[in-house]
Order: sequence, then structure tokens, then C-alpha cells
Amino acid sequence: MVCSYGIGYVNMRLDKFLADMGAGTRSDIKKDIRKGKVTVGGETVKSADLQVDPESDVCYCGRKITYAVNEYYMVNKPAGVISASDDARQSTVIDLLPDEKRQDLFPVGRLDKDTEGLLIITNDGALAHRLLSPKNHVDKIYYAKVSGIVTDTDIKCFAEGMRIGEDIVTLPAKLEVLGTSYERTSEVFVTIHEGKFHQIKKMFEVRGKEVLYLKRLSMGPLRLDDTLAPGEYRKLSDEEISELRKW
Ligand code: URA
Repeated sequence: MVCSYGIGYVNMRLDKFLADMGAGTRSDIKKDIRKGKVTVGGETVKSADLQVDPESDVCYCGRKITYAVNEYYMVNKPAGVISASDDARQSTVIDLLPDEKRQDLFPVGRLDKDTEGLLIITNDGALAHRLLSPKNHVDKIYYAKVSGIVTDTDIKCFAEGMRIGEDIVTLPAKLEVLGTSYERTSEVFVTIHEGKFHQIKKMFEVRGKEVLYLKRLSMGPLRLDDTLAPGEYRKLSDEEISELRKW
């Protein structure tokens, strides 16, 4: 099933329409258009810059191509991949979706290379902007394992907001202790409402503790599907998408 949630989506070039839907590379598509392998509304067209709308009846080599305006996935990001769309040397979270060939997908925000857990992948820039805007205070819940025993003073400092850089002060954050171990490590949940660079690691560093393991469990209303092993992904359900779109 194709989910279309775009509102007022503007026309686009024919080669972009086809490339977004994973029909091939932009240069191969342009060549095929010139060779007469593409029809729009039943007519063969030969110019790649023809403006089409997402509802257009486009066929490529006789196969109907339906344009899905927006797509939404959740990935359980494993450690070792970077939160970027494209990188010449390192694996990216987009490489985790090899069956999704559209060109315009990107991760909503960033997790550090060694952080695991929930990452939304979409091509919906407006939704990403709303979820990432500090003004919207979208809760992000993380599970962390940290060195040392987390104290009531740590909890209070997190709750007050902390200075983590010369000009960087965090909003209040919630720190909940789940347990401590004989090796003097603590397991915690941390809830933050923004996404400053290395935020959780820096907050613990200020308190003299090191984050040994970090995993994002939720972002706003969306919870990581615990049936997804690290590196796996799935489409968001219609219900999950509409909950996210309320932000
Ligand atoms: N805070 C961090 O320090 N790292 C992340 O990846 C996310 C939040």
C-alpha cells in the first residue's frame, strides 16, 4: 500500500518523479526518457524536465509508477553507522534500508555513531522540522548505562538544566535510576526535550560520569518497536504517522 500524506505538493520534473520512486539513477532515467521509454497520461514524452504532479499517470518501460508523496520508517540504529543520508567512506542509516530506493530519504535528527535505537527516516521535511524544533519540546527517552553511582544531586542537576559548554545550557531533563551494579555502574532512563550535540554524554561528563552505552527508546509519541533487532527497520503504521503529525 502507498501512503500519501503530502499536502499541496508541487509539480516536479519527470526525471525526479522517477528517481524518487527508485526507478533508476537520474542519468539512466534521462537517457531512457530520450529513448521514448516513458509515457505520461498514455503519451510518450521525451523531455526529462517536463513538469508532472504526483498524481500523474506515469509509466516507465510499460510499468506504472505511483508516486508516494511521503514515506516514513523507523530504524533500530545499530552502533557503528552514522546518522547521515550519504557518506563516501562510512555506512549510513540510509544504507540500512537497501530495498527503499527513493533518493530523498533522510534521518530525522542525529544519534552519535556509537548510539543505538530509534531513528525516524522520512522525506517529510516539514514533519522533521517540527519534531526537531527545540520550541516544540518533543520528549526523547534514552536508556543509558553510565560509570559510577548516580546520586540525588545528579538527578537534581539534570532537572534544573545544565551548562554543558561555554554558551550551551540544556533545558531541564529527567533522570531516573533503574539500578546500580557491583562494578559501580548505573542503569538509567534520561528524558530530554531537545537534541544538542552529544547532549547526554556531556551532561554526565559534567557530573564526572561516563556514558558506556546509549540507546534511544522513544521520540514524542513514537516508541521503538522492540521486535526490531539492531539494523532492522519497518514502515510506520498509519496510526503512528498520524500521532507524529499532531506535533
Ligand atoms: N545524547 C548523546 O550524547 N548522544 C546521542 O546520540 C544522543 C543524545
